[in-house]
Amino acid sequence: MSDKKLTISDNRNGDTFELPILTPTRGQEMVDISSLPKQSGMFTYDPGFTATGSTSSAITFLDGDKGELFYRGYPIEQLAEKCNYLEVCYLLLNGELPNLDQSEQFNTQIMRRTMVAENLRYGLMRSFNHDAHPMAMMTGVIGSLSAFYHEGMDIYNPEMRMLTAHRLIAKMPTIAAGCYKHNIGQPMQFPQNDLSYTGNLLKMMFGNPCEPYEIDPVAEKALDILFILHADHEQNASTSTVRLASSTGCNPYAAIAAGVAALWGPAHGGANEAVLTMLDEIGSVDNIDKYIAKAKDKNDPFRLMGFGHRVYKNYDPRAKLIKTVCHDVLAKYGNDPRLELAMKLEEIAVTDEYFVERKLYPNVDFYSGIIYAALGIPVNMFTVMFTMARTVGWISHWNEMIEDPKMKIGRPRQLYTGKNMRNVPDMSDR
Ligand code: CMC
Repeated sequence: MSDKKLTISDNRNGDTFELPILTPTRGQEMVDISSLPKQSGMFTYDPGFTATGSTSSAITFLDGDKGELFYRGYPIEQLAEKCNYLEVCYLLLNGELPNLDQSEQFNTQIMRRTMVAENLRYGLMRSFNHDAHPMAMMTGVIGSLSAFYHEGMDIYNPEMRMLTAHRLIAKMPTIAAGCYKHNIGQPMQFPQNDLSYTGNLLKMMFGNPCEPYEIDPVAEKALDILFILHADHEQNASTSTVRLASSTGCNPYAAIAAGVAALWGPAHGGANEAVLTMLDEIGSVDNIDKYIAKAKDKNDPFRLMGFGHRVYKNYDPRAKLIKTVCHDVLAKYGNDPRLELAMKLEEIAVTDEYFVERKLYPNVDFYSGIIYAALGIPVNMFTVMFTMARTVGWISHWNEMIEDPKMKIGRPRQLYTGKNMRNVPDMSDR
């Protein structure tokens, strides 16, 4: 740690406080404010954590101004080109890329754990209403895994943590495909462990027991790349939710379910679903101006979905890669007029003063929905796809947090703005 310090003074009485400055491997320096309450008797105030680092982490780094993203030091572009999703999972969990042996072993570790308990498949999953939103089912079913894996769960045992990671990564596609099949009234498919991770998912979603299912390598590869791009994104809302929930020492499956719930929101993972709904609503290139005006109107709640990001104030690097995949997929699956609409919308938005001034660029979700739609994945399953991909990120952060000797329960403070102390009047006086 460096001996750089930030000195702040209280202009009410001239008191000064010295706070250590922390220097990261990359990115912005941070002021360690943890001693401020002791020194000054004051807490810090930062709604929405726009200026606050909640933890140190060695997993993912992103530079929002430059539009760059790295997992364990590797640029996302190189990972998308040279690795498959399970290799990236290994990297996120273990810190290094696997060699061939390690990759094969990891593949086996994951693919042999794809089955879920029969009473979960036949009992719990089938008990949802047929039209339940798959993210509602996912939240419940993932949480219910804590009932299957609670006895003997020792989160301080590194092997048990790795086993938990493997189980979650392995079972997500089985559960996700099961939710889809439940929605459309078809029998849930068993996983087939000799397939690739995304090939198995495609088969469980689109196969049926009555006829053979042939996996399309274009779809398999496109999903694999999308999963790599969504695998982690440092301290986003859902990852922070998983960290906060897990800081209590709770069952990890329950904590991941909390992350699933956080991801569902339209400001986070739900945006990919919202983008397609928006494109359908806009309908034609002729209506774009009207919707751009709505997005700029402060009295209109409408926002251009898939635009803007809390951290990226430049083109989201994931959006760039996804745009390429989108063209590859549509070359095979036929054009979708929504792609033309999306590209036109992007063209207008990135030159419009309102968006330029606020640095609002397309984010990861702007094009991903068009790919999913081309592959025949229904809109309400889009955030489920994100959930599967992000599971490894959540569990890597959980693992990192539990093994950190400085881990503390997360407990933010508040600026109380309610009534001052008052006495409870008798009923006759109320
Ligand atoms: N359309 C129109 N105006 C916008 C948009 C948008 N999509 N996003 C931000 N703005 C405006 C906002 O009104 C504000 O204007 P002003 O300064 O005049 O008040 C300014 O830009 C800054 O916005 P903010 O809400 O303070 O920014 P934020 O960092 O709190 O929010 C965001 C980030 C992603 C929630 C927001 O940009 C948004 O709602 N985007 C649409 C939803 C979306 O695509 N979400 C997916 C995020 S990427 C996937 C993920 O990581 O989960």
